[in-house]
Amino acid sequence: MASFTVDGLTVTPILNETFGAEVSGIDWEQVPLPDATIKTLITLQDRYAVLIFRNTGLNNDRHVAFSQQLGALEVNPVWGNTTRVNNQYLFDVSNFEADGSIAKRGSRRWAHSLGNALWHTDSAFNQHRAKYSLLLAHSVPGEGKGTTEFADTRRAWSELPEERKEKFRDVIVEHELWHSRRLAAPEEYSELTPEERGKKPPAYHRLIQKTPNGEGETFFLAAHSKRLFSKDGQEMSDSQKEIWDLIGHCTQEKYKFVAEWKSAGDLMWWDNRQSMHRASAYDEKMGARDVRRSTVYDDGDAAMGVAAPVGALTTPVTKTETVVSVTSVEQVHIM
Ligand SMILES: [Fe+2]
Repeated sequence: MASFTVDGLTVTPILNETFGAEVSGIDWEQVPLPDATIKTLITLQDRYAVLIFRNTGLNNDRHVAFSQQLGALEVNPVWGNTTRVNNQYLFDVSNFEADGSIAKRGSRRWAHSLGNALWHTDSAFNQHRAKYSLLLAHSVPGEGKGTTEFADTRRAWSELPEERKEKFRDVIVEHELWHSRRLAAPEEYSELTPEERGKKPPAYHRLIQKTPNGEGETFFLAAHSKRLFSKDGQEMSDSQKEIWDLIGHCTQEKYKFVAEWKSAGDLMWWDNRQSMHRASAYDEKMGARDVRRSTVYDDGDAAMGVAAPVGALTTPVTKTETVVSVTSVEQVHIM
C-alpha cells in the first residue's frame, strides 16, 4: 500500500488505507519525544488504531518513558511476585516463567496465555478501562511463529445492518477476566477462590462507544464479555451467543490483518477503544517469545464505564457461569 510522509515520519497503511499502519522515522534514542511528534503520533493512532514500529531499539526504561507521554500507566497487578521484568509498569506477556524457563503445557502460565489467544481488548474487565497498549519485543521466536491479529471494530459497527444496530445501540456489557480465562482453560479456572474473584470483579461498559476522535462509533467488546444488558437494565437472552456472533462479525477477513513480529525492538501500539486483537497461542516448539506490555489508562469521557445495570445486581452471577466451551467459541470463530 502506498506510503506517505507527515512531519518527517513515513506512514504505510496496512488494511484498506484505514486500519493499521507501519510508521518509521522516529529517533527512539531521543525518548521522551518532542511534544509535536507525540501530537502527530496520536493523530495517526486515532486514524489507524494500530501503529507498528520496527527495530526501535527501545529498552524497558524508554518503553515506559514513551508510554508515559501518552498518559498514566496501569501498574502490573502481579508486580512484586516476579523480578524477571524489573519495572512495575510492564506486564510480562512472554512465554517465560518467573525463573526464566519457557512455560510448559499444563502450567498455570500456559493456561493463562490461552485467554490471550481469544479475541479481546486489554483491560476491558477493569472499571477504569485502558486506551492504549504498547507491546515491545525483546526477543521473537522466528519467522511466522509469533503474530498478533487485529480487527477493526469501527468498520465492523459501521457496516452492521441497521436493524441490528437498533438492537445493540444502548446495550451495556458485563466484562470479567475470569470469564475469558474459563472459556480458554475451563479445567484451570473452574474453581475460583474468593480472593481471586474479589481481585477482579466484573466491570460495566457500553457496547457502542464514540471513537477517540469523536468522529464515529465503534464496538467495545472482548472475550471478557460475559453478559449483555438492555436499556431497561435486564439481561438479554442468549447473551453469550449474541456476544460471539458479534465478535465473529467484527473479526471477518475483511476487517482484520495479521501483524508479524519480525525482530527484537518491534513495537506494536494499539487503541483498545477501537480495535480487538488476539495473540498466536503458545506452541511447545515456538522458542523464546519475550514481549512486554505497558498499558495506558483511558482518560476520555467513557474511561470509568457505567454503573452495574439493575439486572446484574439481581441475577446470581453463577447463573451464566458456564456458558460456552472453548470448542463452541472456536466454532463461532469459524462461522
Ligand atoms: Fe491482549
